[in-house]
Amino acid sequence: MDDVKYAGKVTSNDWIYETRRGEPEYWRKRMLSLCREIIFLSMIDSPNVVKMEEVIKTKSNYYTVLDFCNGGSLQNFLNLHGRFPERFAIKCLQQIISGCSALYEVNVMHRDLKLDNILINFPQQDLLAEADLRTIDLDTEPFVVKIADLGYARELTTKVEGRATSFKGSPLMMAPEQLSTYWGRGSGYSHKIDVWAIGVIFYQMLTGMFMFCVDSQTKRKDAMSELYKKIKKGTWSWPTDITISLNTFDFLNKTMQHDPLLRPTWTEMRQHPIFKDTEASMLNRIRLDIVFDQEPEDGLLFKDRQIFVNTKDPALYSRLYQ
Ligand SMILES: Nc1ncnc2c1ncn2[C@@H]1O[C@H](COP(=O)(O)OP(=O)(O)OP(=O)(O)O)[C@@H](O)[C@H]1O
Ligand SMILES: [Mg+2]
Repeated sequence: MDDVKYAGKVTSNDWIYETRRGEPEYWRKRMLSLCREIIFLSMIDSPNVVKMEEVIKTKSNYYTVLDFCNGGSLQNFLNLHGRFPERFAIKCLQQIISGCSALYEVNVMHRDLKLDNILINFPQQDLLAEADLRTIDLDTEPFVVKIADLGYARELTTKVEGRATSFKGSPLMMAPEQLSTYWGRGSGYSHKIDVWAIGVIFYQMLTGMFMFCVDSQTKRKDAMSELYKKIKKGTWSWPTDITISLNTFDFLNKTMQHDPLLRPTWTEMRQHPIFKDTEASMLNRIRLDIVFDQEPEDGLLFKDRQIFVNTKDPALYSRLYQ
């Protein structure tokens, strides 16, 4: 036996057949979610999507056997390590996009992209305790990032036109068109909701904070409505104590477009300059002290013009001060 380690994801019959109103319909949905995850994982072969080895059924459980990621979820790693240096966050981002592209190749959208559902593995390490994860050297340690938890994933009927209407996933990560379905105003959404979530994830890796959030004291219904307003308006701000490269700023701007059609494609994202010439681009940094307010009808506005810009990039400079 080699020393490859596996993780067993357990889905219990108790969970599938939990007693609720409208039971058969409810059970069918849970069963379908398990089936979808198994089928999608078996269709995808990418270093950046968790690999499924086999599925074992016992009397009371289904075990989905996955390759083990010794760093756990990126959320767990972020909590232990603190916000990621930009260079490391970009490397993670590149692998997340590569995993999502593999999903898209087989016409699947994830619908629940968040740091809890993205795993990290350090192949040159064995088991890692929390203390190891806190101190791991992000500049030198090799790592692989893998997309996991395809429980909410959904097939697109065609790559371009496939749309879904149901409300699935985590509100904090949701694109405006996805949240609209919660209020019954939406006309559906496409895989571009995953592109939006990638922007939110990238922001979170860089700052350690959620891009859109509401006070935790707010009641659930009010919180949803407040969050919806924020996301719909597209207002996000950047912490003044964190410098950012121009490419990172540009990438965030492009992925957080209100109109899904204006968000980049997977190919465009893969080709973004953020992934090229990292050494040079890292030197060209800016310190932002502004709120980005992307009203759909007005385009990008810079509300507060007290901006600290330390950049040689004339294009960005002129955009900020136009
Ligand atoms: N292959 C793996 N290697 C290491 N840890 C894993 C693996 N798969 C899952 N985990 C851990 O288990 C957590 C839950 O996994 P996953 O998201 O796939 O299940 P879930 O049933 O959707 O649970 P949740 O409702 O918490 O999202 C992950 O956030 C991660 O910490
Ligand atoms: Mg999960």
